[in-house]
Amino acid sequence: MKSNAELSKVILKNLTCCILAAGEGVRMNSEIPKVLHRIYKKPLISYVLDAIKELKIKRIITVVGYKSKQVQDYIKKDCQTIKQKKLLGTADALKQAKKKLTTSGGNVLVLYGDTPLIKAKTLAKLINYHVESGSSCTLLTAVLKNPTGYGRIIRNNNDNIIKIIEERDASLYEKVIEEINTGIYCFKNKDLFQSIEDIKPNNTKREFYLTDVIQILIKRGLKVSSLQSEDPEEILGINTREDLSLAHKILRRRIQKEIISKGVTIIDPETVHIDEVVEIGKDTIIEPFVRIEGNVQIGKKCHIGPFARIRPGTIIKDEVKVGNFVEIVRSKIESGTKVNHHAYIGDSEIGKNVNIGAGTITANYDSKKKNKTIIKDGAFIGSGSILVAPVKIGKNVITGANCVVNKGEVKDNRIVVGIPAKVLRKRRVNEA
Ligand code: UD1
Ligand code: CA
Repeated sequence: MKSNAELSKVILKNLTCCILAAGEGVRMNSEIPKVLHRIYKKPLISYVLDAIKELKIKRIITVVGYKSKQVQDYIKKDCQTIKQKKLLGTADALKQAKKKLTTSGGNVLVLYGDTPLIKAKTLAKLINYHVESGSSCTLLTAVLKNPTGYGRIIRNNNDNIIKIIEERDASLYEKVIEEINTGIYCFKNKDLFQSIEDIKPNNTKREFYLTDVIQILIKRGLKVSSLQSEDPEEILGINTREDLSLAHKILRRRIQKEIISKGVTIIDPETVHIDEVVEIGKDTIIEPFVRIEGNVQIGKKCHIGPFARIRPGTIIKDEVKVGNFVEIVRSKIESGTKVNHHAYIGDSEIGKNVNIGAGTITANYDSKKKNKTIIKDGAFIGSGSILVAPVKIGKNVITGANCVVNKGEVKDNRIVVGIPAKVLRKRRVNEA
């Protein structure tokens, strides 16, 4: 048997994945289709697609409907799409994919586009279990302390599944059941498509529910199995803005857990935002209220924050201090440098052991393009300095408080002051 996160070639050869993403997402109260809402800048549907691609599943079909063009444009590079013309329910959505599936053999993994936190290894486990057990359908279930909103799994006295009942159709007795339908299933194509036609919209919403296929398969004497998710957080379905906030929180915790395990201290995780792609070295301390966004690398033994914002395209080497109300973007900062308070550093290259005084601004934008600021090793930039880019500040230069250094170059070891800054004299050795 293959490891948990892998699928054998034989399984992959006979497997298609179908994502249902046609719904409007009424409960989001939005003009944006639900699956395009974002967690950490990435749309919900892309999380699902990424998990599937991690398993190397090649045939992926996404059913789109509400504002289909918008969704299609976003995902067409990653999968085939097919349109559900009328949003008649999840069973109707899956029926649309029928013509793209080999209905005579093979398996289909069905997921909903609004379940973004699902992990590839759980999907692999489900698929492997489905194939090994020879089931017609294998459901991924989860046990939740608060199952509100999800379809409940109804079992008989022998613990065998009988059916799934949606919350709004459930009796009080059924509502206390904590085992829920995650909306992730593996089916044998043949058995699925022989049974899906028998689904009737006999429910409060008058929709064709895919969940009703379970009962039909069982009545036909076919095998329905289930696997329980080990992590109830990964199956969160996003239906409301509240769910979206919760997903952010869960993802934030997942990312930070990984970072902390590599020897980084995050003092108050709840107030810190770090994107998944950020790399941080050992013994760096992240103070409260810090945002680190996009492709950022931070070295060892740095001290970041509180209240710092580090934006994409930034590389910070070892033992750098970035203090409160500092913003850094598209910049490189060498080791031992301090940017302690209220500074904006954009499109800059800052050398080793530089001191950036409080309120320093690199004026990188000239209304047409972004320009570079270069500050060489050992420079001491006085409080309130404005460095008008493109500008190069030489080694060990001192700029006086509140000066404006205009475009051009300040040679090594000079002291400059005033507006516009002029050379006062040469800096003496070790002069602070
Ligand atoms: C669904 C399940 C429920 C499960 C829950 C897990 C059904 C009937 N219910 O409920 O048992 O506990 O997910 O999160 O399946 N969609 C279409 N076309 C449609 C309707 C829906 O493509 O006509 C898509 C939606 O875009 C969405 C997914 O199917 O991605 C699920 O639809 P949603 O309305 O969110 O179902 P839930 O009420 O959450
Ligand atoms: Ca849902």
